[in-house]
Amino acid sequence: MPKISTRYDGLGVGFAPYLQPPGPEIVRWTVGEPGFDTPKEIVDTAISELKAGNTKYNRCQGSVALCQAVADYLSKHHGIETTPENVLVTPGAKQALLYSFMITTMPGDEAILLAPCWASYESMLEIIGAIPVNVPVRKDNFHPDFGAIRAAITNKTKMILLNSPCNPTGAVFTPDEIEEIVEIAVEHDLWIVSDEIYARLNWTDYPHVSPANIPGGAERTLIVNGWSKSWAMTGMRVGFLTGPAAAMKAAIKTQSNSASHIPTFMMEAARVALSCDNSVELFNVEYQKRGKILKDGLAEIPGLRVGDFEGAFYAFVDVTGTGMTDKEFADGAMEAGVQLIPASLIAEGEGFVRISYAADEEVIHEGLRRLKSWLL
Ligand SMILES: Cc1ncc(COP(=O)(O)O)c(C=O)c1O
Repeated sequence: MPKISTRYDGLGVGFAPYLQPPGPEIVRWTVGEPGFDTPKEIVDTAISELKAGNTKYNRCQGSVALCQAVADYLSKHHGIETTPENVLVTPGAKQALLYSFMITTMPGDEAILLAPCWASYESMLEIIGAIPVNVPVRKDNFHPDFGAIRAAITNKTKMILLNSPCNPTGAVFTPDEIEEIVEIAVEHDLWIVSDEIYARLNWTDYPHVSPANIPGGAERTLIVNGWSKSWAMTGMRVGFLTGPAAAMKAAIKTQSNSASHIPTFMMEAARVALSCDNSVELFNVEYQKRGKILKDGLAEIPGLRVGDFEGAFYAFVDVTGTGMTDKEFADGAMEAGVQLIPASLIAEGEGFVRISYAADEEVIHEGLRRLKSWLL
């Protein structure tokens, strides 16, 4: 067999070893996937689009109506002004991230990641030959350490990636912190790729702010977002990208020469989803309820430290007080019947485990019962 290209050499697999579906007897606290059915209006629309024969090639960016709906949605919910021409609907937010990385870096360029962060960023950057530079966030609250960010910038740095609310830490950066990141980006002429997929899952009393909302930010920010998390549409694979016109021209070229577009029958379903505010709000009430059950339950277990749950549906739990490493803790939890993720699998995650509270409420109760009978 001929050799596989070297770009895959040593590529990390992130959380994958701990995300394998276990037997049915195991409680799963691992998957970043809403424990809700996709709202009925969305499913019904996809089905009727299929039945109407909307199964052929279509517009690369997504239908004009869908791109307009994305622009309207961003303006209404996040105060972000864009035009339908500058919206690209992608097969999942992941694909939008890949295009953003291709647009903002060349092989050998550096991209700053605020670590710990979602494992796929590092692998995607490595696949395209860019260099991920993991800059640790503050360990007390997982918010940016500006001294560390400034110190990490070199003449090869081209981009800084933000993910607020954050997977895996749940941190939601304050408006002042976003402003300072924009200031740094302006000072060093950097791109910002802002992964806002959890933007509606903000449990703090300050608003989610996009760098595109800050003066000087819009012209250097690529916003990535999508339907997976807030509309429980993970398997429908729809995300979007928006940003400055020149960058969007490049993004559209990238998609038209690779994925072409999202499935035609999903275009109308994704448009309908953007007006399903009731479901988004209902899910949010449930996530907050589940987060509270988890937080209160973990607080009863000695040796575990949990901070405020600021956003997304992840708890990032310090397990060092148990005397175990995070891997020992995760393996012990698995034996006790609970699957969770040891964060030393990613940069700067040592000593922590990630728990998703997107799971059903009963799954959270049962996991807590099992951890308590193991540890108390
Ligand atoms: C931070 C972050 N960005 C992007 C994604 C990918 O989203 P999508 O399902 O739209 O590709 C995820 C999924 O877990 C995520 O956690």
